Amino acid sequence: MQEDPITGTIGAEISGIDLKGPISDDLAATLRDALSRRLVLVFRGQHLDIAAQKRLTGVFGTPVQLPYIVPTDDDPQVVRVLKEADDHSGTFGGDWHSDMSFVAEPPAGSVLNALELPPYGGDTLFANQVLAWDHLSPGLRELLDGRDAIHVGKPYGVKWAPPAETQSKGAIKMTRLDPEADRERFHPAVLTDPATGRRSLYLNPIYVTRLDGMTEAESRPLIDALRTHATRPEFCMRLRWTPGTVVVWDNFATLHYAVNDYAGHRRELLRTTFAGRPIADWRAAA
Ligand code: SIN
Repeated sequence: MQEDPITGTIGAEISGIDLKGPISDDLAATLRDALSRRLVLVFRGQHLDIAAQKRLTGVFGTPVQLPYIVPTDDDPQVVRVLKEADDHSGTFGGDWHSDMSFVAEPPAGSVLNALELPPYGGDTLFANQVLAWDHLSPGLRELLDGRDAIHVGKPYGVKWAPPAETQSKGAIKMTRLDPEADRERFHPAVLTDPATGRRSLYLNPIYVTRLDGMTEAESRPLIDALRTHATRPEFCMRLRWTPGTVVVWDNFATLHYAVNDYAGHRRELLRTTFAGRPIADWRAAA
């Protein structure tokens, strides 16, 4: 197996392995180690079926079924990330976010497997949130350390429901207008890895409405400033998909953004998601 960094700060291309075959315990440990260092792993030309994708997912954590997104008919733990050529609306994941941060136990990571790609565009951006925390000013670190951010499932709820014209046209079937998605979840604004002590900023503009102890209006400029900081080009990589590419990312240490620039072309990927340790374990000890 070979590991080649994609940028100086995030991402690695992993080559020399065929993920259709069995994954030994040694290889699994090597892949987990690579993910913990590089946060995004890219495997080219794999063309995985669902069984192989789920096997890979299981290397990193327990595969889980997500709420609010209707899974494929084939498997309740697989989501089809699909945008049809005639869909000129928004795209799924079209702003910086970490997956499902608004649920009680957000997933630790995701796997995305490319089936059909536009001839250009449809890239995915990833940003390293360990670096975002490391490079935050002392004043903002003091403000965020030990403070919760409040996450809400805005796209799926009532109170913050997005305008119809910006919603993806329905290639991805979601449960919308569910009052339960408006429920506020308090998660630490900075996560502390229980195994290593590594810290990462855990805020995103899709799901975070405010910081604990502040109003939405007071929080908004801070969330905007943090978005700009957290996605500085130095912290980012841009993934150009190629047929059969499979990507794994750390959901607690990265943000990602699906670029909506391929109107008139179809894009289809399969996503699986894995659980890690409970989010309470990621609170810094007082
Ligand atoms: C997602 O947010 O999981 C979708 C990413 C993508 O379509 O590139």
